[in-house]
Amino acid sequence: MTAVPPSPLRLFARRLKAWVNRGRYWRESITELEQRLSAATTIDELIDTVWEYKGRGPYSRIRPLQAKYELRQLLNRLADLQPKRVIELGTRNGGTLVLWTRCAPSVEQVISVDLPGGIHGGGYPAVRIPLYRAFAVGRPQTAVTLLRLDSQTEATRDAVVQALRNQPADFLFIDADHREAGVRRDYELYAPLVRTGGLIAFHDIRPHPKNPEVEVFKLWDELKASNPTAVEYVTEPYPGYYGIGVIEKVEA
Ligand SMILES: C[S@@+](CC[C@H](N)C(=O)[O-])C[C@H]1O[C@@H](n2cnc3c(N)ncnc32)[C@H](O)[C@@H]1O
Repeated sequence: MTAVPPSPLRLFARRLKAWVNRGRYWRESITELEQRLSAATTIDELIDTVWEYKGRGPYSRIRPLQAKYELRQLLNRLADLQPKRVIELGTRNGGTLVLWTRCAPSVEQVISVDLPGGIHGGGYPAVRIPLYRAFAVGRPQTAVTLLRLDSQTEATRDAVVQALRNQPADFLFIDADHREAGVRRDYELYAPLVRTGGLIAFHDIRPHPKNPEVEVFKLWDELKASNPTAVEYVTEPYPGYYGIGVIEKVEA
């Protein structure tokens, strides 16, 4: 028996329902997000907010693929650095993006680069753009720029430079393509945009026995050997994934 296609009326009804639901999900989600973010004043509260936010439909969950302990160390570092301009490569659910956006009152601009369909998570759909822009709620001094592009091209690097208005970045977070060539390319293209004394952080710096495509350690171990400022924030005992490595940008 051949399946009967739904009638135009039924199709219209379905689309209408989805559209009405999306409006409702947006209102509920943005209210929850704004309330939670406005109430979070310390680093721990901010981290908890990111873990606890639920949202609805396409706006649900912003929880990052990170360990709380490691993030807390990095956020403490950023509280000391007081960054103005931040670049994030790899955003996915937005969990780390929201943390950089609100890590210090000094933050003026956060630029996210994430490739739709990219390896290690697939990016995020366009419907989430207003959610990510709302990460700066209550902070009129902070702008969130979202570039849904391949970080590994010079054109994207140039778009980041343009968004920065040729000002140097204070903090770069690299968490996009974790294969060796990918992470090297990101470092090569974006590390020069960071000012001397600024910070460059890498996620997933330890070998990941269950995912051989995580090869960040191949670059990280080299940087660690040559840069005396290198610090690792790794959960102990090592669970077999994650780990954040941070270096200070030294004079070229
Ligand atoms: C592990 S997720 C990022 C997780 C996020 N930082 C967090 O902690 O929740 C990696 C992201 O990198 C993106 N990505 C992979 N290759 C990329 C590329 N060449 N350019 C930009 N983004 C890329 C993927 O689309 C994915 O969303």
